[in-house]
Amino acid sequence: MGIQKDLILLLRKVDRVVALTGAGISQESGLQTFRDTQTGLWSQFKPTELATPEAFMRNPKLVWDWYAMRRNKVLDVEPNPGHFAIVEIAGHIPDFSLITQNVDGLHQRAGSPKVIELHGNIQRVKCSSCGQQAQAWNEAGDEVPKCEICKSLLRPDVVWFGESLPQAMLEAAEKAARACQVYFSIGTSGVVHPAASLALTASARGALIVEINTESTPLTEKADYYLQGMAGEILPALVKSVWG
Ligand code: OAD
Repeated sequence: MGIQKDLILLLRKVDRVVALTGAGISQESGLQTFRDTQTGLWSQFKPTELATPEAFMRNPKLVWDWYAMRRNKVLDVEPNPGHFAIVEIAGHIPDFSLITQNVDGLHQRAGSPKVIELHGNIQRVKCSSCGQQAQAWNEAGDEVPKCEICKSLLRPDVVWFGESLPQAMLEAAEKAARACQVYFSIGTSGVVHPAASLALTASARGALIVEINTESTPLTEKADYYLQGMAGEILPALVKSVWG
């Protein structure tokens, strides 16, 4: 695919770049996205029955098992060329911030050292009451495992609908979005806030917005460049065109 010449020239010059990624970048690793109409997780499961504190209070075992299934699935897959291309981009840009809504840890496994995880990480587990992270727990039991300290139920260390994002992560993401010259929005439907607002923050401060997505989103008409297609193809092509 062709990448616009002026974007190529710009990327050779800029110092401060942000990339926000969503489920689309992990789709080519074999993980389901949330909102794709046929294959998305939310076409098969109701978020209100699985990804809210109320759902966990109502039926902790159902929620725990759903996350355990996803946790195992993540361990079965590998980062793809999109994740690796981001590691390369970071190597060329002096001040590069990677922000992700993904909980799968695939950026870290690809070699991205500092990832601002806005929605937590599915491999971590914490106490639903005291918040203490658990290092080990019995996955196979009939009951949801309990916190060693306060004996409350353990839960995945992810952000559910209706919960606040980790404050330090959100602040770091907002700071990077305010300061960047180019902002990439990659494989995200851009409908879940506050992550989706970061592009608008960046744009209001004069950053150029580059969107990479197989489908158009609410951001597309505001983006300066819309590179339509698979992140695992477009990102390596972009690296090759700019720095290859
Ligand atoms: P979505 O499932 O909402 O969006 C995935 C986006 O990736 C869609 O816009 C697809 O068109 C696009 N896409 C799919 N395959 C792609 C590919 N190979 N290359 C490029 N783009 C591709 O996922 P998110 O935007 O990440 O939150 O969803 C945001 C949040 O909503 C998630 O973190 C999760 C979810 O509910 C919580 O669970 C709190």
